[in-house]
Amino acid sequence: MSKLRIPTAEAFAPLLKPSRYKGAWGGRGSGKSHFFAGLMVEEHLCFPGHRSVCIRGVQKSLKQSAKKLIEDTLQRYNLGEAQGFKVFREVIETPHDGLIIFQGMQDHTADSVKSLEGFDRAWVEEAQSLSDRSLSLLRPTIRAEGSELWFSWNPSRATDPVDMLLRGPISPTDAIVIRANWSDNPWFPAVLEQERKDCLETQADRYGHIWEGEYATVLEGAYYAKHLTQAQLDRRIGHVARDPLMKTYAFWDIGGTSTRSDATAIWIAQFVGAEVRVLDYYEAVGQPFEAHVNWLRANDYEDVICVLPHDGRKHDAVYQVTPQSFLREAGFMVDIVPNQGAGAAMQRIDAVRRLFPSILFNEATTKGGRDALGWYHEKRDETRGIGLGPEHDWSSHGADAFGLMAIFKNGMKAEGDWNEPLRRNLKGIV
Ligand SMILES: Nc1ncnc2c1ncn2[C@@H]1O[C@H](COP(=O)(O)OP(=O)(O)OP(=O)(O)O)[C@@H](O)[C@H]1O
Ligand SMILES: [Mg+2]
Repeated sequence: MSKLRIPTAEAFAPLLKPSRYKGAWGGRGSGKSHFFAGLMVEEHLCFPGHRSVCIRGVQKSLKQSAKKLIEDTLQRYNLGEAQGFKVFREVIETPHDGLIIFQGMQDHTADSVKSLEGFDRAWVEEAQSLSDRSLSLLRPTIRAEGSELWFSWNPSRATDPVDMLLRGPISPTDAIVIRANWSDNPWFPAVLEQERKDCLETQADRYGHIWEGEYATVLEGAYYAKHLTQAQLDRRIGHVARDPLMKTYAFWDIGGTSTRSDATAIWIAQFVGAEVRVLDYYEAVGQPFEAHVNWLRANDYEDVICVLPHDGRKHDAVYQVTPQSFLREAGFMVDIVPNQGAGAAMQRIDAVRRLFPSILFNEATTKGGRDALGWYHEKRDETRGIGLGPEHDWSSHGADAFGLMAIFKNGMKAEGDWNEPLRRNLKGIV
């Protein structure tokens, strides 16, 4: 058996030991890709008949794959046909009938993914783009004795599936995860060092994300990024308690209960004097309507007034009831904000921006919602350089429900309207 020792940067050393899950995350140029490519080549030399798959969430051509990097590694260490490595257009043959292949997960189905069952290693590059579905398909598929799943990525959001899996509150059994940045890379090239310094000068707000592996928060065209930073500076994000004598509202954005694919978002808030106290945030994808109601009950929000967007009156194909009637049946007071018509999205954004200085957030329970508000941004047509309105993505549900709150507050007549103490025993009466 041949052996080769490719030099390893210290930060990556923990990943040399066998482990079911291996993760390396961090900013640009930290050596993540080179490390896993090197480890893969080493292993193919050591283990006869070893089979590996290099994966991307989406891979439209082999050019996007790690193939070139593995070829370069073979070349650097003079590994060719004499040592059993043979590079073909789509695959690389390795010693003793081993194989390295390159695939995107986008076309895999529950059936097709079975072709990977006998593989010893799956290395997911740029794993921040891997969907939940792809990750769920992949994990049980890689099942050979001693098989390993490797992930390298530049983090984007804390809620991305790979971050939830390897950096979330509960890690899977037998996982080794390391953070690596440019400063951990002894071979960090001069060109990248210049790029890094330029970024620090000209894009200071994005530096932490690009080079230090921090989650992306401030994005170009983000509607509320500045407002959130200001709230932080003003210490308006902290401990905010519920006033038991004031009405509490739940502002909803209702996901498609019939398709069960869209997220439902709820903000819990109170209006106390000039202040808007944002107490809680809830978001769920693919859950039946009862689940949302159960969340309200479980969190002591049984007596809140549910404020729905105009589609709250629409019938649901599955349940044959409207969210409005469902909530009324469940004993909630319900109010509907009429359709704002054309330009509704921009109206909501303006209303939120105007309201922002009066908003206080309870830090511990609103993180997910604040992440969504920070991310909510304008879609741009880069070639024409014009904005196309809000991007519809994971953040729009939280942002829409928040917008509904601002519109609702604008529509309130007098202070007494919302300051009046809650009549706790009159549930179901609007
Ligand atoms: N083992 C190594 N031997 C020689 N050079 C290396 C090695 N590891 C990293 N480098 C150098 O560091 C650079 C960055 O490494 P690499 O591309 O692996 O980083 P990365 O973390 O994958 O970056 P990105 O986040 O941009 O994909 C490489 O282009 C190469 O010049
Ligand atoms: Mg890389």
